[in-house]
Amino acid sequence: MKPTSNSQHELFMETIRQRRSIRKYKPYKIPIEHIRIIEEAARRAPTDAALHLWTAIHVRDDNKKKIIAEATRQPHIAQASDFYLYIADLHRLQRLLQHRGEQLGDSHQALLLFAAIDAGIAAENMVLAAVSLGYGTCFIGAVHNATEQLIKLLKLPILTYPLFGLVIGYPDEAPPPRPRLPPTMLFHREEYQEYTSKQLEEAYKTMAPITRRGDYLRLLKRYVAAGGYFEQRNKQLPELLETMGFKILKRWERC
Ligand SMILES: Cc1cc2nc3c(=O)[nH]c(=O)nc-3n(C[C@H](O)[C@H](O)[C@H](O)COP(=O)(O)O)c2cc1C
Repeated sequence: MKPTSNSQHELFMETIRQRRSIRKYKPYKIPIEHIRIIEEAARRAPTDAALHLWTAIHVRDDNKKKIIAEATRQPHIAQASDFYLYIADLHRLQRLLQHRGEQLGDSHQALLLFAAIDAGIAAENMVLAAVSLGYGTCFIGAVHNATEQLIKLLKLPILTYPLFGLVIGYPDEAPPPRPRLPPTMLFHREEYQEYTSKQLEEAYKTMAPITRRGDYLRLLKRYVAAGGYFEQRNKQLPELLETMGFKILKRWERC
């Protein structure tokens, strides 16, 4: 391994420590040279089997960003300089195969999973490049509140599907670092370790500052308990995927 100087390592770790989700932006545009650097960071990210399963649609136009901000109910999309919609892109794979007389196999579900992985890695590379240049960023899962509008607005072809958004811009706030679960819950050594009541209690305490009221349970309920946002997303997913040409195998089709 190439020896890394301490200062290089420190700078890199400082970029990671400095990053936090920014939800207020100054109304300035990022210079195009910086946009190119940030995009190149995503392009250099690892990609499963060199498949490049993602595409990022860059939206700079203020009117379009405003429409997306309203549709997703995320005002910071309108404020920030740039918005990227990361999509799973099996369409390009299909085009590449057809170009040589081949067809995409029945592998849409598995490819979708790997597309989400590839896209997440590429986007985080972008985030770190942007933060190292002094910009603020925020991932936008709320694109799933407006999937159909985004598909239409950005003219997404079949075999593509919105995964998440990413905003980048000049930060206009400096929030404190947000809490994370304790390392022992996130890293299990050698095998999965079931959680004790003490650990679960500790998790609620550690995560309390994530909401203004200091109530992590409230957040969990809003997103993932019965009636939470993810239930709605889960319900609409199979139908929307089918509309976009994804073949979702039913139980009886799996043998
Ligand atoms: C996949 C993903 C989706 C997210 N979606 C949103 C979103 O729609 N709106 C938003 O304001 N923040 C969103 N976030 C930011 C998280 O809320 C944030 O990362 C988390 O609260 C931790 O805060 P930090 O990033 O400042 O450390 C998202 C983050 C990720 C990774």
